Amino acid sequence: MPHPLLASANEASKPIWLVTEQTWTEIAGSLPPLAQGFAKAQGFAGKAGSHCLLPDASGELFGVAFGINGTDARQSDPFLPGKLSTLLPEGVYRFETEAPNPTLATLAWLLGTYSFSRYRKRNEKAVRLVIPHGVDAEDVTHIANAIVASRDLVNTPTNDLGPDGIEAAARELADRHGASFTSIVGDDLLKQNFPMIHAVGRASITPPRLIDFTWGKADAPRITLVGKGVAFDTGGLDIKPAASMLLMRKDMGGAAATLALASMIMDAKLPVRLRVLIPAVENAISSNAFRPGDILPSRKGISVEIGNTDAEGRLILADALALADEESPDLIVDFATLTGAARVALGPELPPFYTDDDALAADIARHGTAENDPVWRLPLWYPYQSQLDSKFADMNNTGGPMGGSITAALFLRRFVEAAKAHVHFDIFAWNNATKPGRPEGGEVQVSRLMYALLKERYGA
Ligand code: BES
Ligand code: MN
Ligand code: ZN
Repeated sequence: MPHPLLASANEASKPIWLVTEQTWTEIAGSLPPLAQGFAKAQGFAGKAGSHCLLPDASGELFGVAFGINGTDARQSDPFLPGKLSTLLPEGVYRFETEAPNPTLATLAWLLGTYSFSRYRKRNEKAVRLVIPHGVDAEDVTHIANAIVASRDLVNTPTNDLGPDGIEAAARELADRHGASFTSIVGDDLLKQNFPMIHAVGRASITPPRLIDFTWGKADAPRITLVGKGVAFDTGGLDIKPAASMLLMRKDMGGAAATLALASMIMDAKLPVRLRVLIPAVENAISSNAFRPGDILPSRKGISVEIGNTDAEGRLILADALALADEESPDLIVDFATLTGAARVALGPELPPFYTDDDALAADIARHGTAENDPVWRLPLWYPYQSQLDSKFADMNNTGGPMGGSITAALFLRRFVEAAKAHVHFDIFAWNNATKPGRPEGGEVQVSRLMYALLKERYGA
């Protein structure tokens, strides 16, 4: 079923002319004089992002002119035409001139209309788009649905989405696709040797857990996704200041990204053996909270001194990565809202990624650009590993004050040995301001690019 905002070509629709400041003069000349004159009177000149509703002779809507970026790919946003789904009056429209990237324009059309409506109703208008030529409506619909579902998870506050809620969302997705699902909860984490997941999550009234589901043929290439599922990050006893804590319901953005990617993979029935691991915890404060200076055992047998309880994500991921690594998969992909340092380095819209596999890195960079899901490679700079030295244990969970995203990546790297490849994404999971296709609030980063990469590598 295509998305409800997509229309078929035989539905009546209004034309949208996508123009640039260069092409507008010619296109304007082809319009009826009244529409032309009205656009001129409005001062419409085809400026990128601006639009003009064009009247017909009876004052009804004749069509729409919308300015898109020029030819400099580095400075143009393929999502820009999608902005129209939030600007236009209710109705059905078609691109009369082809969008530079029809698939991404369509996707942005759908993604841009998202609003988080769990706690208050919004008047939603149905601004629909005729599926442009060459766009795979099924695929775009699956991608949009996956992203929207995961945005809802990121946006939902922790009083309604604790570690148990993350588990319920994962279970619902797994069940829908016939995946086999388990969850190890509370003290069972100790019995089954996940000491760091337990230590980080034990202070919460909602017990910590490791969510684990598997889908696909056993002999297919093994792809394992690991997502940081911190339902809320107070910082633990090394408590965060109020401003830093305010948005920490999004600290399960890695888990949301893995679920979105898993949803895309399973909807497309990619011939892979998919495993999803989500350590889901709340980093809370209580008398039984883990402490600075504690030394924790880990699943892999590496002892870890706690330099800071706010560096909790890498602890829970380490136990999950160790488990992932035990079956030597072809690829481990982890997603985590891991460090503030990644934001200092690259800002909120450009998540860094880390891998030793240069071919994988090149593929990731290429698909990131192609899908408008941008990322930037940073180095696993092994000389910084000494920042993680501990006086009393095998490792400390924090490095020095500089290069914090790199040292966090190096920490994770120690827990992966047998997998053929591993990539770690340090994501932000949030749009600070609305942009085309990217409404302010919870966001899914990297999943679309990894889906495109896996489709290219393994797709039929
Ligand atoms: N979840 C945070 C990182 C974070 C903060 C991601 C803001 C996105 C936006 C993580 O658990 C954390 O607190 N990291 C610390 C690590 C430090 C204590 C070594 C940080 O980045 O300050
Ligand atoms: Mn933290
Ligand atoms: Zn965190």
